[in-house]
Order: sequence, then structure tokens, then C-alpha cells
Amino acid sequence: MSFVADKKREHEANAETALKEKNYANAWFHTAKAAELGLRLAEDSEGRVAKRYVDDAFELIEIAAQLKQKASAAQKKPAATQVTDGPPQTEKPTAENWQLSERPAQRLADVAGLDAVKAELAEKVIEPFQHPELFARFKLKPGGGVLMYGPPGNGKTFIARAVAGELDAAFFAVNAAQIKDKYVGETEKNLQKLFDAARTHDRAVLFIDEVDQLLGKRGNQKIGSVAQFLTLADGLIQNKNCLLILAATNKPWMLDEAVVRPGRLGTHIYVGPPDAGAREGILALNLKDVPVGPDVNLTQVADQTEGYSGADLAELCDRAKRAAKNRQSTSGHDEMVLGADFTAALQMVRPSITADQLKSYAAWRQGDDHAAAGEEE
Ligand SMILES: Nc1ncnc2c1ncn2[C@@H]1O[C@H](COP(=O)(O)OP(=O)(O)OP(=O)(O)O)[C@@H](O)[C@H]1O
Ligand SMILES: [Mg+2]
Repeated sequence: MSFVADKKREHEANAETALKEKNYANAWFHTAKAAELGLRLAEDSEGRVAKRYVDDAFELIEIAAQLKQKASAAQKKPAATQVTDGPPQTEKPTAENWQLSERPAQRLADVAGLDAVKAELAEKVIEPFQHPELFARFKLKPGGGVLMYGPPGNGKTFIARAVAGELDAAFFAVNAAQIKDKYVGETEKNLQKLFDAARTHDRAVLFIDEVDQLLGKRGNQKIGSVAQFLTLADGLIQNKNCLLILAATNKPWMLDEAVVRPGRLGTHIYVGPPDAGAREGILALNLKDVPVGPDVNLTQVADQTEGYSGADLAELCDRAKRAAKNRQSTSGHDEMVLGADFTAALQMVRPSITADQLKSYAAWRQGDDHAAAGEEE
């Protein structure tokens, strides 16, 4: 799977399991991987969200260092030989790694709010696969390229996974970082492998997350991969029955202009911050099956969280839940998440989306790349 946050959680869970089994070498490996992914998430975030990721990553690095000591004391075999997804040096990208072997359980209905985004994705991404006959009748070409863009933490990656859940098509999901290689020519080769793999299927979706890292404007290597992408995308989109390229970025102004033109990633869908209704939905999702006291008013919390991203709201709920958990471990009897837990959490978690940030997206939308980039840098 290419979703960095999910992959990080997976490594954290594996580390916990390994720790329970006293397999310190494996626990060390997975903790170090989680830290590495945490830093990658930090790199792609801004402000407080980035800081949280960095703090978390440093904590994991410390834990990893302790685990490493324990592992060598126990003289265990290195983790590399025991884990399923292997250490970094053997993690060669392959097309099999990129194809989702199972459809995710997630559906578009699980995405709170964002009705216009969901409707557009249903029409542009899902319908061509579900009703190819309609497209054939009106001589419309199914497939093509769709770019989702918008501020960090508002569900672009989450939605892509829901799209994969909806579709009965081969789904390839990569994070640009997995394709990028420091050696000259290797990035292009990886792209070729990815497109070759998609080509073997009649119906395929190719999702490239954080695409600005791969198809950006500057740097020699990026230019090479842009040229390669354009050639591959032009060939496939024109000749293939139903191939769709879906991409996501929170820095659309970093993308090479040729990449976002019609015929390539030509359809642009803005995934903006959640409105009050969506915020309430996201809060409810994060509190599903959690004991919540009658004094918690989610409509009110939603009203108080203007400017919070989906990820901020998840963090807010996490803090409130932890406070209740800590209360229970002290009191020894069943506790619930209370209104006061949210009041305290609201003091700690501040909104990560700024008005300036939103202006950058509007400027990019209006074709003013320069102004957009200026806001960013
Ligand atoms: N509309 C939403 N409905 C439900 N959950 C949401 C929604 N928006 C965000 N979330 C939650 O926030 C988390 C972060 O969202 P996600 O990683 O998809 O953001 P993103 O837009 O891809 O951010 P980035 O630009 O940093 O990659 C998700 O895992 C999910 O838990
Ligand atoms: Mg994302």
C-alpha cells in the first residue's frame, strides 16, 4: 500500500506485536520504519501538523534506539530476515507491490461531507468503469487523468482509497516517493514498470499520491520523469479502453504545466477544508463505537472548529479519547469522553488551515501559478 500514514500505522502495529513477542529486532525495524514515514509526513505538512509529526518521529527514533540495544543484547537475528515487507535495502519497487490485492472496505459513503467532490469523482472516475456502454453510445472516451488538489489533511488520500473500494478494476496505488530514485534514469524505469503493469489490465486505475514530488517543475531528474510520464500517459490514455490516472497533491503549483493540461491530468478537483456539516461527520466517524457522554455536543464542536482539517479533527478526537482513557486507568471504573475533554483538547489542537493557504489554491485555480507559489514559499 502506498498511503504513507496507513503504512506508518501498520509499522507501529507490527512493532507493538513484535514487542509483545519480545522480538526486539523486529520491533526495532518497524519502529524505525514508522519514524522514517513520520518524517516523510512531516516533510509534506506544514505548521502545527508538521511539528506534531516531527515530535512523534523523534519519540519513535528514541524508542527505536532503545530497541536496537535490546536486540543486540538478546543477540537476535536481524529483523530483516523475519519481516514480511523487508528492510529498506531489499525493498525494490515492483509492480506487484503497487497493485492493491484486495479492494479496500472503504466506500465514498464513508467520506464525510465533500458532496461536490464525491459527485465529480463518481462521474469522472467511477461511472466510466461501471457503465462503459453509456460512454460508447455517446462516443465519449472513458478514462483520462484526474488531479485532486487542496490543503493537507482533508482527505485526498482517504478518498482515493474509497474510490478503490468502489471500483471493480485493477487499482495501482503509489506514493511518488516510491517511484523516485536517486540514480539517473531509475525513476523513468520505475514509471515504465508501473504503466506496463497497468497496461496488462483492461480496466485499471493508477493512483499517484503526492505527485508534485515526481512531476515537479525543477531539477534535472524531475524533468526526465516529467517527459517520461507525458509519453506514457499520452500513449495509454489514447490507446487504452479504460485507464484512469488519478493523482493527488497539496502543492499543485509545483507541478509541471504540461502535466496538468487536458489529455493528461486535465480534470482538476479541489478537495477543500470541511464545512461545519462535514466536520460534524468527521468527528462522528472518529468517535464511532466510543463511549461518549451525553454532554458532548458534536454540532457545537463542529461550530468551534472552523479552519480545522480532517486530520486536525482526528487529532482533536484522539486527545479527548486519551484523556478519558487516562481518567479510567486512574479511577479504575468505566469512564466516558466528556465535553470537558473536548474543551481541553480544543486548547491544544489549533486549526492548521490558514486563509493564505486557501488563497494559494484559488490563485492556482485561476491560472496564476506565480502568485500561488509565492504564497507557498
Ligand atoms: N472528509 C473526510 N471524511 C472522513 N475522514 C476524513 C475526511 N477528511 C480527512 N479525514 C481524516 O483525516 C485523515 C487525513 O486525510 P488524508 O491523509 O486523506 O489527507 P490528504 O488530503 O491526503 O493530505 P495530504 O495533502 O497531507 O496528503 C484521514 O485519514 C481521515 O482520517
Ligand atoms: Mg495525502
